Amino acid sequence: MKKFLAIVALSGFMVLSVTIGYADSGEELFKKRCSMCHPNGGNIIKPEMTLHKKHLAIHGIKTADDIIRIMRNPGPGMPKFSEDILSNEDAKGIAEYILKTFNSHTGLQEQAGVYANYVGRLGEATTKVDSFMLRKE
Ligand code: HEC
Repeated sequence: MKKFLAIVALSGFMVLSVTIGYADSGEELFKKRCSMCHPNGGNIIKPEMTLHKKHLAIHGIKTADDIIRIMRNPGPGMPKFSEDILSNEDAKGIAEYILKTFNSHTGLQEQAGVYANYVGRLGEATTKVDSFMLRKE
């Protein structure tokens, strides 16, 4: 019986430590501290300042250190996350999570879409000009 209880206690401890380990991951911290304003890497207050690669790049944010710099010294509308709230290690975990998660090539896709739309309209315009030139009176 004692042995059984010991095993139960031990496995309980293991579950607990795994949970704590998980809670400390960049993803969990991001969900806790950032996702209310940055759901899915977006930005509910300033839609043009998301955490997606293309926006970050526009604002010169490329590395984890750049993101940590924003957490320590944010722009208007974002709370400051000083070291007593987020240790350097936690801040780094969040920054790395952001870089690896919101790195889609949406920017390129959007540009391709704009280009395709432009080419499409150019095609339409050409057809109109053609039919105008070829019109029979
Ligand atoms: C209360 C809402 C709020 C919370 C919480 C918040 N942010 Fe922000 N965040 C903003 C706003 C607003 C901006 C735009 C600030 C500006 O105008 O410079 C921003 C901008 C940023 C930017 C720059 C984005 C860009 O495209 O240049 C980064 C990086 C960022 N936040 C990271 C974080 C991280 C990491 C957390 C969590 C630790 C967090 N934010 C929590 C509101 C928030």
